[in-house]
Amino acid sequence: MEKVLESRGLWFAYDDDYVLEDISVSVDRSDFVAIVGPNGGGKTTLVKLITGLLQPTMGTLTVLGGPPAKAGSRIGYVPQFSTMDASFPITVLEVVLQGLFHKSMIGPAWKRDAVEQGLRSLEQLGIADLAGRHFGQLSGGQKQRTLLARALVSSPELLILDEPTSSVDIAVEEDIYELFKELNSVMTILLVTHDITFVSSYVNKVMCLNRRSACHATEEIALERERIAPYGHKVTEIRHQCGL
Ligand SMILES: Nc1ncnc2c1ncn2[C@@H]1O[C@H](COP(=O)(O)OP(=O)(O)OP(=O)(O)O)[C@@H](O)[C@H]1O
Ligand SMILES: [Mg+2]
Repeated sequence: MEKVLESRGLWFAYDDDYVLEDISVSVDRSDFVAIVGPNGGGKTTLVKLITGLLQPTMGTLTVLGGPPAKAGSRIGYVPQFSTMDASFPITVLEVVLQGLFHKSMIGPAWKRDAVEQGLRSLEQLGIADLAGRHFGQLSGGQKQRTLLARALVSSPELLILDEPTSSVDIAVEEDIYELFKELNSVMTILLVTHDITFVSSYVNKVMCLNRRSACHATEEIALERERIAPYGHKVTEIRHQCGL
């Protein structure tokens, strides 16, 4: 079966220094993968390569059977930091509709359908009441949920989330993870997180990334958790166990 994501010997450098070295990853349909690792380990860089925002320096990377730039709306992406100017007068619904910009925007019928899709996506995230608000005036958590709605509005096959819940409270975080679990029945999910303890019951693979990468099945993580739990360490320490 076609892999959702496959990289072989992938290297990437911003300038002269490599921040990713010899990354080989393979992700199947319906995988839910957590990407963990220290600050500066290369997680966001890898995500930008997968979404086609950066090009590999060496090696191969295939997303949904082709080059990343060709995957377009088949990928939904929630970036780690929003680069949107807070003073730009754009409503929450308009932000969500940006997720449909790739589709041909012809005629009023398209617009009606798009608005319906946008509102449905906001409902999924429990923020339909914010549709007409200015994006710049929202709280951090409301912004994050809006960006999630934008990533979901095109019903992507691959959803990529770079620390998507870092500014939502714990109750909302649990709701969002329940939503991810539901979505995982119809889409593959890659999730960058620092909280492997929290996500380990949702994901089936964990990729440790610190310039180089190593992949684990979640059963391995569960065993590791049992092994280190009595000592009160966090499961994130697994990255040291795998030599990264
Ligand atoms: N645009 C850039 N130009 C030059 N170097 C960069 C650029 N973006 C990131 N880097 C460097 O690449 C390395 C990896 O950064 P990256 O943002 O991928 O890490 P990360 O794992 O996402 O970290 P965090 O957990 O803090 O989000 C870091 O050393 C960073 O300083
Ligand atoms: Mg990052």
